[in-house]
Amino acid sequence: MFGKFITLEGGDGCGKSTQLKLLAEYLQSKNIDVVLTKEPGSTDEGKILRELLVTGDKDKFDAISECLLYYADRRCNLKKVVWPALKENKWVISDRYADSTEAYQYYGYNKRVDFQTLKSLYKIVAGDFKPDLTIILDIDPEIGMRRSFAKSQSMEVKELRFESRQMEFHHNLRQGFLEIAKREPDRCVVINANTDIETLHKHIIETVNERLGV
Ligand SMILES: Nc1ncnc2c1ncn2[C@@H]1O[C@H](COP(=O)(O)OP(=O)(O)O)[C@@H](O)[C@H]1O
Ligand SMILES: [Mg+2]
Repeated sequence: MFGKFITLEGGDGCGKSTQLKLLAEYLQSKNIDVVLTKEPGSTDEGKILRELLVTGDKDKFDAISECLLYYADRRCNLKKVVWPALKENKWVISDRYADSTEAYQYYGYNKRVDFQTLKSLYKIVAGDFKPDLTIILDIDPEIGMRRSFAKSQSMEVKELRFESRQMEFHHNLRQGFLEIAKREPDRCVVINANTDIETLHKHIIETVNERLGV
């Protein structure tokens, strides 16, 4: 594969969707072909899985069912969007990827899924493939949730299944992302997301240039 795969991670409201678009515009200005994707829900099948995952009662799935749904969506995203684009020399930026599953399912829920189970699922679905760069946007969940709630007021479908969890969950989630970054410093970079949109964009560009040499 010749393109680069960048993933943006972090809790709700940290600015992933906003920064994804700005990073894409920057890369395009450098004559790089960019494909944007997201998890869950980048494909027709994935959209159905997303609806199941982000709406309704917070306890409607047990841990394993939920992981399997995320991994089914991930497999669709990889096979239909990510891998074909990388083969065509394009750069792919994904709004969330496997670190979100680990952060939510393992750290967020106080290790309710066995770590090895998550690793095995990843291996089945993606093999040895991993992002070239993962940017973790770090923010106090109180601030992130406030931003995210304001945004959801204007959305047609309320994706509030995770937002409705206790703050403790969101604090665990944040710590989870930081743990992942500590474990894989070659792949992950943590950036403080509690800054204005332009400043954050500047830091992201600096990181991408440093790590991937645009
Ligand atoms: N750096 C920022 N400062 C203040 N508000 C922001 C910032 N980045 C994004 N927002 C706003 O916060 C909300 C959530 O941002 P979004 O990019 O959708 O986050 P995410 O995709 O991580 O949930 C949006 O309404 C967005 O306009
Ligand atoms: Mg978003």
